[in-house]
Amino acid sequence: MGIKKVAVLGSGLMGNGLCQVFAKDPGTEVVLRSRSMKDDPLAGIRKNLDQLVEHGAMAGADAEASLGRISFTDDMEAALKGADLVVECVPEDMQIKQDLFAGIEPLVREDTILATNTSVMSITQIASKTQKKDRVVGTHFWNPPYLIPLVEVVKGEGTSMEVVDKTYDYLKKIGKKPVKCMKDVQGFVANRLQHALWREALYMVEAGIADAATVDEALRYGPGLRWPHLGVLENVDMIGTDLSLSIQRGVLPYLADGHEPSALLEQLVADGKLGFKTGEGYQKWTPEEADARNKALRAYLIRVTKDLA
Ligand SMILES: NC(=O)c1ccc[n+]([C@@H]2O[C@H](COP(=O)([O-])OP(=O)(O)OC[C@H]3O[C@@H](n4cnc5c(N)ncnc54)[C@H](O)[C@@H]3O)[C@@H](O)[C@H]2O)c1
Repeated sequence: MGIKKVAVLGSGLMGNGLCQVFAKDPGTEVVLRSRSMKDDPLAGIRKNLDQLVEHGAMAGADAEASLGRISFTDDMEAALKGADLVVECVPEDMQIKQDLFAGIEPLVREDTILATNTSVMSITQIASKTQKKDRVVGTHFWNPPYLIPLVEVVKGEGTSMEVVDKTYDYLKKIGKKPVKCMKDVQGFVANRLQHALWREALYMVEAGIADAATVDEALRYGPGLRWPHLGVLENVDMIGTDLSLSIQRGVLPYLADGHEPSALLEQLVADGKLGFKTGEGYQKWTPEEADARNKALRAYLIRVTKDLA
């Protein structure tokens, strides 16, 4: 049976964004379950949709139809009734996620998929208090989920391949770019890649090789520009595995390989220099600059993902 009803649990930043993602599909009915009915979570979704319409990335009628497919309740039983897929977006706390999945099992069908949007925690551990571990899978969406196409579908030790495939196929059908992560490892696929790069970037600033703005510029106007079209492994083949091997032999001994966070990063946090939030991190930011950078990122993502939207 296909996925026709999705229940999203938790109406914070990611929960709201995921409702928007699923409701874009005309064949999906979405129920958002929130513990409190005080705030209107659809307000945030409406604002995002308006921005897409304004930039010509979505037709006004499609945005309205999307909103019409989302309902909102504080009643867990009603939210889960008939759900084919449940996606939890509650806080990044192992016990909360474990208890939530164990608690809702009696309220869902035998074949309902339970997906967790955890950023870094083990899918196997999150599933550990459930009876049917084969149906628990990771779906790691990236923020903002309605603009970033990637979703990592993560197989826990007990997850069945049928559940991995069904989740992957559904995400693909609704327009996302899912990838399968076949081992329940820290950082899944994309964060491992990202943080290998961050380690080197932070190290270079600490070692005085280049300042923060220069490191970012080198990436932005260099390799970063190619990445949407040239994957790393494709790049290895393009230049030749022989040349790649010589380069690895020459450069790897000199790269950062620590297992602790950067000392400079620790110092910045200790000094209360928290980046955009406080006006200074690796660089200084006025509130206007911080706001402009956030807006520019969203506008850029809308532009580059227009064809996928
Ligand atoms: N924010 C991101 O960029 C991002 C990206 C990818 C994944 N995630 C993951 O998504 C999940 C949700 O993150 P978020 O940023 O939306 O968080 P959030 O704090 O914005 O929202 C959490 C929601 O859970 C509800 N909640 C709090 N305690 C609860 C409880 N005990 N039981 C049930 N619901 C409870 C809150 O009321 C809120 O609606 C986390 O696991 C996070 O790691 C976040």
